[in-house]
Amino acid sequence: MKGDAAGRDAYPHADLGAVPARGPRRPARIIAIDGPAGSGKSTTARAVAAELQLPHLDSGSLYRAVTWALLQGGVPEAEWANLDPEEVRALGLRLDPASPQEPGGPPRFRVEVDGRDPGEALRSVRVTQRVSTAAAIPAVRTALLQLQRDTARRTGVVADGRDMGTVVFPDADLKIFLVADPEERARRRLLQEGREVSPINLARERALLEARDRRDSGRETAPLVQATDAVRLDTTGMDFREQVEEILRLARTPLDP
Ligand code: CDP
Repeated sequence: MKGDAAGRDAYPHADLGAVPARGPRRPARIIAIDGPAGSGKSTTARAVAAELQLPHLDSGSLYRAVTWALLQGGVPEAEWANLDPEEVRALGLRLDPASPQEPGGPPRFRVEVDGRDPGEALRSVRVTQRVSTAAAIPAVRTALLQLQRDTARRTGVVADGRDMGTVVFPDADLKIFLVADPEERARRRLLQEGREVSPINLARERALLEARDRRDSGRETAPLVQATDAVRLDTTGMDFREQVEEILRLARTPLDP
């Protein structure tokens, strides 16, 4: 799956508009980082963005925000699949430029839902367990596609998610596909959340990550798949700084004209 065809096949009913053109006249840079759950995409993308002083777009937070809004609105899960793009847009999702979260951090976008900041609720268990269901709905993806492109076109971006290189930014300047062994991903996720790295927690976390990967890879619309022109980076044995440096090295390599 590569190039604009991927986007158009994935969204047969959507008017996708023009894909941002690649070439020397485009001032902004777009770096797409995709991969399975817990592969370290967001932390890596944030560090790369800070170095390059590009904004960081965490596309997962958009799908989490839609999920949160549907749950808050009391929309029964059985009805999610019947939503149309207008109803998703009516949830009032916005991406606003915001100050860096920490000194020296990258510019970033704050996700707002109908004028409210969902904050930590986006990463709650309730949202995490349902986000893959919401993300598989074509109307949800159609509604978020243009929002992501419009945001990135203005500023350039380091974007992380599942379909950044295949669908949203098929002409990204650099595409990375980050992977790591499931056991290692589970370990990192427990550490990130400050939980004990015990065998039982590891087994549970691994099962949850793998279940989400199966749903994300198995869906019809914009499945999690490596773009044919992405660089695959297995970070299982790498430390964090090494993987960031490797992406920066690739990002600084001049593009073909
Ligand atoms: O950080 P983590 O790997 O746990 O997930 P995330 O990036 O916050 O994404 C949460 C969920 O949103 C994923 O499991 C996908 O179902 C969905 N997602 C997507 O479908 N497409 C994207 N570009 C980003 C996220």
